[in-house]
Amino acid sequence: LNKYYIFILLSISSFIYQGCKPDDPKKTTEDCEDLGEGGICGTATPYNFIMPQGFPAVNLPADNPLTEEGILLGRMLFYDPILSLDSTQSCASCHKQENAFTDPRQFSEGITGAVGTRNSMPIFNILWQKTGFFWDGRAPGIRDQVIGPVTNPIEMAHETFCDALDKLRETSRYRNKFCEAFGDDVITEDRYQMALEQFLITLVSADSKSDKIENGQGSFTFDELSGRKIFFGEPPLGGDCFHCHGTIGTFSTFEYTNNGLDTSFTDIGMAEVSGKSYDQGKFKTPSLRNIALTAPYMHDGRFNTLKEVIDFYTDSVQESSPNLDPLMNHNNTGIKLQLNEIQKGQLIKYLETLTDTTFINNPAFSNPF
Ligand code: HEC
Ligand code: HEC
Repeated sequence: LNKYYIFILLSISSFIYQGCKPDDPKKTTEDCEDLGEGGICGTATPYNFIMPQGFPAVNLPADNPLTEEGILLGRMLFYDPILSLDSTQSCASCHKQENAFTDPRQFSEGITGAVGTRNSMPIFNILWQKTGFFWDGRAPGIRDQVIGPVTNPIEMAHETFCDALDKLRETSRYRNKFCEAFGDDVITEDRYQMALEQFLITLVSADSKSDKIENGQGSFTFDELSGRKIFFGEPPLGGDCFHCHGTIGTFSTFEYTNNGLDTSFTDIGMAEVSGKSYDQGKFKTPSLRNIALTAPYMHDGRFNTLKEVIDFYTDSVQESSPNLDPLMNHNNTGIKLQLNEIQKGQLIKYLETLTDTTFINNPAFSNPF
């Protein structure tokens, strides 16, 4: 490229950047499109995604084939503070690998120090989550999810998503990485979404003690096995956890239910999205995989330990909670859980077998910088 050519390209791109001004009322996704600098790259390398043994069958997204380069780009975006307004915070600030990609703080802090009202959520096995994302399900797919944090004023706080894209475009690092992943160096919102989706899909957790045993390797201790029987057992002797959290592999149905935490709601959960009063108090049933790593618990992080959670299910389910799931009072039989302290301890021992240390130590998921 001679200097004259570069000058023309720069002028064209700075002209295009005009469309991304935060105060531009007509700003649309299209205005955000950038022609890049004309770099062309070869075809990206297909990534071999291994479906874990014993999990329900699922498909990969047909319109976003996984590639080595796409996944690496997604991983960089996940860990790069460049996506926050003052370049201090990345997705990983609130989604830490050692905590199965959640935040050990009750409420995460955004770049301004402001806090939200919900506990961060762990991220793994997203291909098996067919019911949407966030505690209230407001993002139908993972692609829809990855834009929100960047412009959320109490998270990464960019005024518009265009602003964040512009910061990426200013770096040769990202022009090169988008080029390697997508064949040319155009940086768009779609491609940002595709790359993050690819990385998040690879975050598969399937190597806990329980996974190995369910697939025929090794065995539970006496206490773990007793805990497993409680987990999958009907009350009064069982704990009846399996109806909502029982699918082997995913450890959730991911349905939105009210498990009876409160008699009246400060956070109405799913109803905020659906507008239906019968959805008040319903939240996504979380997976119990890696649960020993993801305290505090519930959408508002109100419980610090698994013991507190099990005490709640045994003694404190609010029977008068509106839209209480029928399973919580055991199909209106009035039969309550009657777990004694020994049984509670055994249930915790079983839940601890769902911890996947391979996952939290996998170098492929760690900070690439
Ligand atoms: C300031 C902290 C913070 C940052 C930064 C952040 N998140 Fe989150 N994340 C949260 C919280 C809190 C929730 C739950 C919010 C809710 O349900 O309303 C969440 C939920 C999610 C979920 C939903 C998981 C599920 O099972 O439904 C995904 C996926 C996710 N975040 C990915 C990301 C990505 C990708 C980024 C970076 C672009 C990011 N997060 C940045 C705090 C954060
Ligand atoms: C009716 C379905 C249902 C049943 C039955 C049920 N749960 Fe839950 N569970 C939920 C929902 C919904 C949440 C999230 C509630 C919220 O945050 O408002 C939850 C949350 C949890 C959490 C916290 C997860 C996190 O990431 O914060 C744990 C731990 C848990 N349940 C364990 C159990 C155990 C153990 C049992 C059996 C004693 C059980 N659950 C029975 C629906 C259920």
